[in-house]
Amino acid sequence: MSDISTESADRVLTIILNRPAKKNAITDAMYGHIAAALRGAADDPAIGAVLIRGEGADFCAGNDISMFAAAAAGEQDILASNTGPFLQAISTFPKPLVAAVTGRAIGIGVTMLLHCDLVYVAEDAELRTPFIDLGLVPEAASALTLPERIGHVRSFALFALGEALGGKEAAAIGIANRALPADEVQRVAELAARTLAAKPLSALVATKALMRNAEAIAAALDADQKAFVAQLKTPEAAAAFAAFAARKGPPA
Ligand code: COA
Repeated sequence: MSDISTESADRVLTIILNRPAKKNAITDAMYGHIAAALRGAADDPAIGAVLIRGEGADFCAGNDISMFAAAAAGEQDILASNTGPFLQAISTFPKPLVAAVTGRAIGIGVTMLLHCDLVYVAEDAELRTPFIDLGLVPEAASALTLPERIGHVRSFALFALGEALGGKEAAAIGIANRALPADEVQRVAELAARTLAAKPLSALVATKALMRNAEAIAAALDADQKAFVAQLKTPEAAAAFAAFAARKGPPA
């Protein structure tokens, strides 16, 4: 089974993060598949909207930390990875993008939501952006988009204190449209995506383009990528990745 699966029905492409045993943490290959699926959906006149969801209880535990560790050790070049194409594809996706979030959303699992147009979360979802605890900086233009959405002090608490945000609060402060019982999130998000996909596509695309400051987002992505790559090389980041890898101790 691929770690990214897609389904298509009623002019909606659904992209499923399908790695539940690892809480849908995203690998380089997964970034590549999502980017390709988004590019395909952007070009396909038969697709009017895209829905992103996770398989299993959790939406996404963030970037696979082993990828960060490999980059910190100089074994992988993040700039040559599929992260850039993924960020490019999601931040410029011209059609409506809907997210269905249950369980945990961490790191990129949260910051990708800031590029979505409708977001439905479970009331008991837990959103966290612990970049600073990992010795990193916020990515995916979130240092711009999150404060724009919820203000500086709340964003700083999420980034710097690593505070968890519950689903109800995420909806109350404008990160999500609605918080719902967990077993209703997918159905409501699918309905919203189908409703959007049935509307005049060119008007939706034009509206989304008018609502987003593409130039500012591109500049923020460029800036945070440089800072992120620099932070990956710090001893603090290496220590945080090693601590995650070691937290269960060596296998018995
Ligand atoms: N990268 C790589 N593997 C991850 C991962 C990640 N971001 N998140 C979870 N996993 C893996 C765990 O290593 C574990 O693998 P194993 O069963 O082979 O040991 C599996 O997913 C299940 O996770 P586990 O930690 O056992 O579940 P939990 O319910 O105790 O905790 C989390 C879940 C998500 C809270 C915890 O795994 C976590 O903190 N993950 C890291 C989140 C993070 O910091 N992401 C990066 C943000 S920039």
